[in-house]
Amino acid sequence: MKLATSFTLNNLAEINILAFESSCDETGVALYNGEKGLLGHKVFSSADLHALYGGVVPELASRDHIKRVEVLTTDLLKQAQLKTSDITLIAYTAGPGLVGALLVGATYARSLAFALNIPVYAINHLEGHLLAPFLENEQPSFPLLAVLVSGGHSQFVYCKDYHSYKVLGQSLDDAVGEAFDKTAKLLGLPYPGGKLLSELAEQGEPDFSFKAPMTDRPGLDLSFSGLKTAALNKINSYKSETKQELTIQEKADVARAFENTVVKTFKIKIRRAVEQIKQEYNIKLSEIVLVGGVSANKRLRIELANEFGSQKINLRYARPEFCVDNGAMIAVAGFFKYLHDMQKYGEVKTNELTTIVKARWSLDSLSL
Ligand code: KG4
Ligand code: ZN
Repeated sequence: MKLATSFTLNNLAEINILAFESSCDETGVALYNGEKGLLGHKVFSSADLHALYGGVVPELASRDHIKRVEVLTTDLLKQAQLKTSDITLIAYTAGPGLVGALLVGATYARSLAFALNIPVYAINHLEGHLLAPFLENEQPSFPLLAVLVSGGHSQFVYCKDYHSYKVLGQSLDDAVGEAFDKTAKLLGLPYPGGKLLSELAEQGEPDFSFKAPMTDRPGLDLSFSGLKTAALNKINSYKSETKQELTIQEKADVARAFENTVVKTFKIKIRRAVEQIKQEYNIKLSEIVLVGGVSANKRLRIELANEFGSQKINLRYARPEFCVDNGAMIAVAGFFKYLHDMQKYGEVKTNELTTIVKARWSLDSLSL
């Protein structure tokens, strides 16, 4: 796995980046070499702990990061046969995310960088998702449209180049992953239920549909809380008809109708985004990247690839383990920044005095 980039620098083989992700309930650690690409990564999810409460409990997530980060880092270094003295750069997720959870990764990353006397990059989590497809052999190229569909965010981002981002529209309420998880909970599935809902949806054959939200008005903003309520109303109407719990088939039908509506909404909005980019920037796009946890959804991938493939637009995504939160995407974002800094300034430019962690951090603000 090597990054296809127009940048060329000497001594890339000597660059070893150690990266940390701790924005929510996954502790991720990764090692990335400037010539060989990803050397390895490890993720531990505390989702099972949160499942008892039906959603992420921030304090428990923070405590679990403290427990995991050291162990994962030691194991990873051992597996890659590297010593801490071989690390030349550290990258960590600085936001957006849960502040307590972010602080664990930030403190560990910064302390290690201080002890080793090496630079440290504060990386935007959303940018990590956006660049995750660059971990694959068949890599995207700029300009591209990023469709970011995660548990905390849903956004359409026009990426003219690395660090030239424009958010074209985003969720006004529940992010799409959040809507998957809440609807899954209504269907009795454990947290985080997005993947389980989509597995249940495979058996669904609904003779009803839900309205695709915010598609009857112009623009690229999204809203999924109403869709969750529509699913709840359908569940309640089944219950009031039979005075009993839903059958598996009824649950599968609701799941399938929900998933169909999400797919339809993204088809309509992505078509719009492509057209908007053509009008505003005079660019005929040939690349779309689908990123974030929900980009692991099979139906979304297949239907969008069919829809846009026929228009000669490549739809790219990362393998499922790099769609959900992980350290490898933070490592590749760190490598992009390193290449950029070396080319533009001839040295690493850290942002340590201005950024330690940020609960909110828009991609727009990264633009150079
Ligand atoms: O990107 P991510 O790991 O976390 C955030 O940064 O928010 O995304 C997690 C979200 C969860 O809501 C999870 O249910 C959803 O991604 N997800 C899926 C699938 N796999 C993960 N949703 C639908 N279908 C899937 N296959
Ligand atoms: Zn994420």
